[in-house]
Amino acid sequence: MSAPRICRASLQANWHVTTFSRGIKSKARRPAQSTTKPSPSQRQAPPKSELQRFQERIRTEKEATQKKTYHGISPRVLTFLGITALTISTYTGYLYASYTREVSKAQSLDVPTDVSDRYNSTAPTFDAEVELSEKAMRMGTKRADLVHMARGDVLEVSCGTGRNLEYYELGERRGVDTDGKGVIKGCRTLTLVDLSSQMVAITEEKFRRLRPEFTRVLFRAQDAAKVAVEKPVTTTKTARDAGDEDRDRYYDTIVQTMGLCSMPDPVATLKHLGSITEPSRGRILLLEHGRSYYGWLNRILDNLAPAHADRHGCWWNRDIGAIVKESGLEVVEEKRWHFGTTWKYVLRPRQDHGEKE
Ligand SMILES: C[S@@+](CC[C@H](N)C(=O)[O-])C[C@H]1O[C@@H](n2cnc3c(N)ncnc32)[C@H](O)[C@@H]1O
Repeated sequence: MSAPRICRASLQANWHVTTFSRGIKSKARRPAQSTTKPSPSQRQAPPKSELQRFQERIRTEKEATQKKTYHGISPRVLTFLGITALTISTYTGYLYASYTREVSKAQSLDVPTDVSDRYNSTAPTFDAEVELSEKAMRMGTKRADLVHMARGDVLEVSCGTGRNLEYYELGERRGVDTDGKGVIKGCRTLTLVDLSSQMVAITEEKFRRLRPEFTRVLFRAQDAAKVAVEKPVTTTKTARDAGDEDRDRYYDTIVQTMGLCSMPDPVATLKHLGSITEPSRGRILLLEHGRSYYGWLNRILDNLAPAHADRHGCWWNRDIGAIVKESGLEVVEEKRWHFGTTWKYVLRPRQDHGEKE
């Protein structure tokens, strides 16, 4: 019996020691309690719940992060913006330096007005050189819209590498116009002309590949300012109907795209083309590039024009509107795109020409 008693005594002693030590620990943790009654401001806040403590921690962390930002923009975004600004300013500086270097080089060049011989050497690489910029400017659609208007006996001058070939409606057919009147649509014949024989050879090869079914086609290396009316099919005197007399003297449609920039006398060329266009229903269709609506852009074009002409055979700062006006042809339709640098014209021989004389 003595063993359990010892055990109980030791347990009791143990309990007293544990309680005493817990008391000391809890007293040590708790702040000393004042014996006086706390004022309302001194009164202790009720203990916070787990959720409140969590929310407080989130708030503190957020405040710390915000203190590190500039006007609420995080350091990562600031770094990105800084690098972007630096890249843009470096690139702008580089462009400006290249531009001023090119301008001073261009101004020191002595370039003749007639630079059309440049195409003999650039013909093989012409398509590759213009492809990307034409795509970016959606020139394919503009070429297609223009060339779809061609009808009857068609002449294309300054045909280059034949970039318009795929858009021609080849073969005559009956159709109706916008007023519901019966008209002849499509090309009866097609004559393709360029001053550069290298360019003509590329056009011919392309045509045979793209449109092998159409045989009423001619290819000629000639100056557009002197081109004579020569068609793949001539109307024999016995087969002539009423109104066919003019067929051998005129074209129903003359097309030129990006040609006025390359010839030494664009006004004289247009005048000549007007003289071989059927006087009443004939049309000259132009898609050209030249001066812009904007002075700042024209200054850039002017400054770099000699170097561009020397290298590419094209004066890109010509005032196409002024050239057309001086030619005396009548404007049926006019449109401009790309800051005004791309010009479309539908022209016809002046109708009041006879009345004035
Ligand atoms: C910029 S390229 C345009 C080629 C093509 N029309 C186009 O839209 O891609 C100018 C072309 O005009 C031709 N050219 C320049 N002067 C000419 C002239 N007096 N008569 C005929 N073609 C000429 C050049 O040989 C060259 O092929």
